[in-house]
Amino acid sequence: MLLLQVSILLWFGVFRFDFSDALSDLEPIRTESALLKPKVMIAILARNSEHSLPFYLGCIERLDYPKDRIAIWAAADHSVDNTTAMLQEWVSGVEGLYHSVRFRTTEHGKSSYADELGPKHWPDSRFNHVMQLRQAALRSARAQWADYILFADSDNLLTNPKVLSLLIAENRTLVAPMLESKTLYSNFWCGMTAQGYYKRTDSYIPIRNWKRVGCHAVPMIHSTMLLDLRRRASHALAFYPLHQLYPWILDDILAFSFSARQAGVQMFVCNREHYGYLPVPLRTQQTLENEVESFTHTLTEAMLDFALEPSRYLHTPSRNKDRMAFDEIYIINLMRRMDRRERMLRTLDVLGIEVTLTDAVDGKALNSSQLQVLGIEMLPSYQDPYSGRVLTKGEIGCFLSHYNIWKQVVERKQRQVLMLEDDIRFEPNFKSRLNTITEDIRQKQLQWDLIYVGRKRLQVKNPERWVKGIKNLVYPDYSYWTLGYILSLQGAKKLLEAKPLGKMLPVDEFLPVMFNKHPTEEYLVHFKQRDLLAFSVEPLLLYPTHYTGEPGYSSDTETSTIWDNESINTDWDRQRTNKKQNRGDAAPVPTSDSSSRDEL
Ligand SMILES: *[C@@H]1O[C@H](CO)[C@@H](O)[C@H](O)[C@H]1NC(C)=O
Ligand SMILES: *[C@@H]1O[C@H](CO)[C@@H](O)[C@H](O)[C@H]1NC(C)=O
Ligand SMILES: *[C@@H]1O[C@H](CO)[C@@H](O)[C@H](O)[C@H]1NC(C)=O
Ligand SMILES: *[C@@H]1O[C@H](CO)[C@@H](O)[C@H](O)[C@H]1NC(C)=O
Repeated sequence: MLLLQVSILLWFGVFRFDFSDALSDLEPIRTESALLKPKVMIAILARNSEHSLPFYLGCIERLDYPKDRIAIWAAADHSVDNTTAMLQEWVSGVEGLYHSVRFRTTEHGKSSYADELGPKHWPDSRFNHVMQLRQAALRSARAQWADYILFADSDNLLTNPKVLSLLIAENRTLVAPMLESKTLYSNFWCGMTAQGYYKRTDSYIPIRNWKRVGCHAVPMIHSTMLLDLRRRASHALAFYPLHQLYPWILDDILAFSFSARQAGVQMFVCNREHYGYLPVPLRTQQTLENEVESFTHTLTEAMLDFALEPSRYLHTPSRNKDRMAFDEIYIINLMRRMDRRERMLRTLDVLGIEVTLTDAVDGKALNSSQLQVLGIEMLPSYQDPYSGRVLTKGEIGCFLSHYNIWKQVVERKQRQVLMLEDDIRFEPNFKSRLNTITEDIRQKQLQWDLIYVGRKRLQVKNPERWVKGIKNLVYPDYSYWTLGYILSLQGAKKLLEAKPLGKMLPVDEFLPVMFNKHPTEEYLVHFKQRDLLAFSVEPLLLYPTHYTGEPGYSSDTETSTIWDNESINTDWDRQRTNKKQNRGDAAPVPTSDSSSRDEL
């Protein structure tokens, strides 16, 4: 009874309220909700991309953009590898995540075009087919009323998750993110001849090297680009059929560039940020294997700056890994540098190299009494040639890390091992090139103790002597750094027999003493046997990851104290890198913007 009364009262209350004059004052005005993001279709065209798909798709998945505003349009065709099955697997895996997902294969069991000579050969049939596929993607995007279509070649690594939002924010009809490669090659041209050939102009290098930053009007963008379909002029753009006035040689990127020109649409390339990487194109006669190696190198370069992971929706078979010609490959890593450790392991995984991690000795954690127990004494006359300071604990830790491995090599009687530090970058085809050299050495029965794989040459004026009969091997002069070297059992024994702990100097100064190329007489006299048989690969196959002043460098800095005085702080890594700087060193400058399109 009471309940009923209450509800009647309530009912009257509500009733009365609804009709009260207070309505307009009390009704809260709700703010408008945010707009949904523009609708984007991503067009994925894949062929013979088994090697790149896992990482390419991983980048697509990580794009920082709502997936329910993205439609995926994927096509696979004419592959000799597992591309079609992989793309199919991915498409099924991500179906629920995106607004829509479409997959088409035009393969019908065909793995090549009838008139095609190899994977890098582009007969007209292939150009026509690719242009038709791109056109089909474009048609599908228009039919779905997508606001944008993003084309991204299946070996382009869009490492910057914001790339899509950033390109949209540029508010251009047709815009490409400038992609990086090891050389000057990128996905845009600054000049074009009347015949539609590539032309180098003065603006290319300043843009490519970020000297001129912004969004630049250019005659050609390709590989990865965003098209704004809401722009009226975009309606006239087409990949296929060719424009009736098309004057140039048949080529998909030229055809689209011409179409844009006819439609009055300006192409732009942006370099405000770092967006991603692409491999340098191969020459016509190169093989799929070369393409895989080229991509692998692009991947390891990208991994220096980004923790790239393969797609989660693609089961990637674990790569075959081996130890090359070595009994063991040692990586020296400080426990507290987990970032470097993980980067190295990811990179070595991609390269198919099996390694053993060793914990580097953390010089910072060593105190004077421990140094005494280890019998560590500084070489009496040692002075850092640049700062004049004495040995730091960081340098002692580094020395001990190498020393401990030399001991292990002797204890385990390992015939030959490879030592790698954890802050290195690999040259293209590192593995096969080093394999070729070690095989050559084995066949020619060269006697050797140590072979540098990465170092800094200090006597740059005098050319080093080549080793006769063996390709890519020299007798090294005075050098710095221990980025990577091959050591034999005999070499390890010689280094230990020199008893270096009691007369310590930095390990990269110790090695040249041992092969008798150190220019400082005072150091030499402390070591009687200086008969280490040292060699160096040439060109070098390893370089430091970052040079002074480059982005990412500062994180490499470690501080350390002088070996016998905890109150003096130094900065050993920086000292080491300052040496480079004092020698006028800089990051290697890319020398060519070789483009297969040059050769058209
Ligand atoms: C091809 O890829 C599919 C999907 O990832 C996988 O299930 C299959 O095992 C692969 N086949 C080969 C031969 O690698
Ligand atoms: C984008 O460009 C159009 C004209 O090209 C202009 O009307 C519009 O205001 C621009 N939008 C933004 C957000 O700058
Ligand atoms: C040096 O370090 C060791 C091990 O951490 C410690 O036992 C010892 O007490 C330290 N000695 C001094 C003088 O700090
Ligand atoms: C350590 O260095 C400081 C500063 O140069 C100096 O004052 C001190 O005497 C040194 N201590 C030892 C034990 O050498």
